[in-house]
Amino acid sequence: MEHQRADIAVIGGTGFYAFLDDPHEVEVTTPYGDPSAPIAIGTVAGRSVAFVPRHGPHHEFPPHRINHRANLWALRSLGVRQVLAPCAVGGLRPEVVPGDVVVPDQLVDRTTGRVQSYVETGAVHLPFADPYCSGVRGAVLGAGEATGGGAERGIVDGGTMVVIEGPRFSTRAESRWYADQGWTLVNMTGHPEAVLAREMQQCYAAIALVTDMDAGAEDGAGVGQAEVFARFKENLDRLRGLLTATIERLPDPDGCSCSNWADGIDLTYEVPDGS
Ligand code: ADE
Repeated sequence: MEHQRADIAVIGGTGFYAFLDDPHEVEVTTPYGDPSAPIAIGTVAGRSVAFVPRHGPHHEFPPHRINHRANLWALRSLGVRQVLAPCAVGGLRPEVVPGDVVVPDQLVDRTTGRVQSYVETGAVHLPFADPYCSGVRGAVLGAGEATGGGAERGIVDGGTMVVIEGPRFSTRAESRWYADQGWTLVNMTGHPEAVLAREMQQCYAAIALVTDMDAGAEDGAGVGQAEVFARFKENLDRLRGLLTATIERLPDPDGCSCSNWADGIDLTYEVPDGS
């Protein structure tokens, strides 16, 4: 039977549609406009899972034009409390190489022009010292350990992901500067997705596939889009397997600080509860 609710979501590239069993699409409108696409809901490992391609079904939204507020609000309105966010990243340091899957534990926001909050009024200051949910991260790492993450090197626990505005890649100087800060990964979509999930009281973890070594880490012409897309496509099966094994291991979100940080705070925006 079709269900209009989901507990878990995957926000990722279009290649992930195939991993839902029995999918159907739901059109959701939000106070923030339309999500990147109708939301697909299906089953994975017996759980109800929603999927939204963050760049749109035909990759029509570049990183700086993604309506993250609509995406997270739409998912929360369907009941989603745990979000898995696969993404492509560049590697900045020799600890990671193309093909690695990294579960970052920190984020640096270097975006410039993005709306990154539902808060329009009042005093709502959310904790974000640890931007990713430890329970969901643990499930991804457990899945990686159990399945090998589909790679010889397994999956990498922790790393700092710097999120740039894009759509251009970094200059060599920017890239070297990021690496010198000790940051591990560079990406264009991980923010404000992560903070908006926190505002929606959702548990959220990024699952980063290293598609290239960024400009500062590599001699030669620098990073190009073709390399990034090709590497991501090559690894889709692996990522889908990792997501399924993660979904089997997700902890109960009740009681997680990702959802109860707002206890005692008068939220000035709506968190739709999916009922
Ligand atoms: N996504 C994949 N590779 C990237 C890079 N080198 N910089 C920014 N975003 C990326």
